[in-house]
Amino acid sequence: MKAAKSIRLSSFELKVGDIAGVELEKLHALSISVGWPHRAEDWQLLLEMGEGIVAQDEIGRVLVTAMWFPFGASFATVGMVITSPRLQAHGAGRWIMNNVLARVGSRNLGLSATRAAHRLYLSLGFSPARVVYQCQGEAAMPASTLLPAGASLRDIGPADLARLVELDRNAYGVDRSALLARLLDVSKGVALLREDRIQAFALCRPFGRGHVVGPVVAGKDDDAIAVTSPHVAEHAGQFLRLDTRQETGPFPAFVARSGLPVYDTVTSMWLGQPWAVTGEQDAGKLPVTYALASQAFG
Ligand SMILES: CC(C)(COP(=O)(O)OP(=O)(O)OC[C@H]1O[C@@H](n2cnc3c(N)ncnc32)[C@H](O)[C@@H]1OP(=O)(O)O)[C@@H](O)C(=O)NCCC(=O)NCCS
Repeated sequence: MKAAKSIRLSSFELKVGDIAGVELEKLHALSISVGWPHRAEDWQLLLEMGEGIVAQDEIGRVLVTAMWFPFGASFATVGMVITSPRLQAHGAGRWIMNNVLARVGSRNLGLSATRAAHRLYLSLGFSPARVVYQCQGEAAMPASTLLPAGASLRDIGPADLARLVELDRNAYGVDRSALLARLLDVSKGVALLREDRIQAFALCRPFGRGHVVGPVVAGKDDDAIAVTSPHVAEHAGQFLRLDTRQETGPFPAFVARSGLPVYDTVTSMWLGQPWAVTGEQDAGKLPVTYALASQAFG
């Protein structure tokens, strides 16, 4: 696909360049300008895990960003698509996305579309698949949850990585070993075991205004609740967030009871092959991604 490398918009002449090497403060300032909660550390992790492009004006201000995160050989998620409010609705979002599509090659894509971006992605050929419920608030100590029969809980350690990657791959559809290894560095993890084998897990790390729980991967709601509950208890009284595609059932009910009502929604969309996480949960496929690693990573 051909995509112009520079564009004149309003009174701005913008040039596209690599996001690597752009000062973190400039990226952080842009995400703050659209009300996003990312800290500089959250941007840092995104930059380590993905690639991206920025559009800068003649004096180096970053006015547009877009990133993509390759997982395995043929899939990537797209995220951090932002146009500075002073430049929105002039075609910059479409222009940067065309540049992304020209660079990701033939990879299948998944993304979390905000309301503001939904029409843009539709017009680029993305298909909507599932709603993501962004749940957040002041965590409330959950009523003591019964551990599912025959199961035990323990903290996750570095030696568990291979099993977490396996569970996550079965749920998500592609290998995210590099991401999970990096998340383990900054997360606390709880695993549910049966007969000494990890069957479900939940990670929790600092993000944005507080902490985020995710990914949560489990075979059934009770297991997902059991691994999420200790994170809620640990952050009782503090800001906690969890993004889930689960619309009904015990898990979203538990999340709501834990002081994390639905704050906003985004839509999981895909381009190319349908994205595993967006269709097969209903077909009885196990395990399931109960909570996203983040909207950018899916
Ligand atoms: C979403 C966003 C990146 C779009 O950037 P933009 O530079 O304004 O986009 P464009 O001007 O290229 O417009 C692209 C399409 O979006 C739609 N659009 C643009 N402005 C819109 C508005 N104010 N209301 C509704 N739709 C709008 C239009 O359908 C437009 O298509 P068109 O070219 O056929 O008219 C920008 O609004 C933004 O940064 N929002 C906050 C952060 C965010 O939500 N990012 C998306 C993450 S998935």
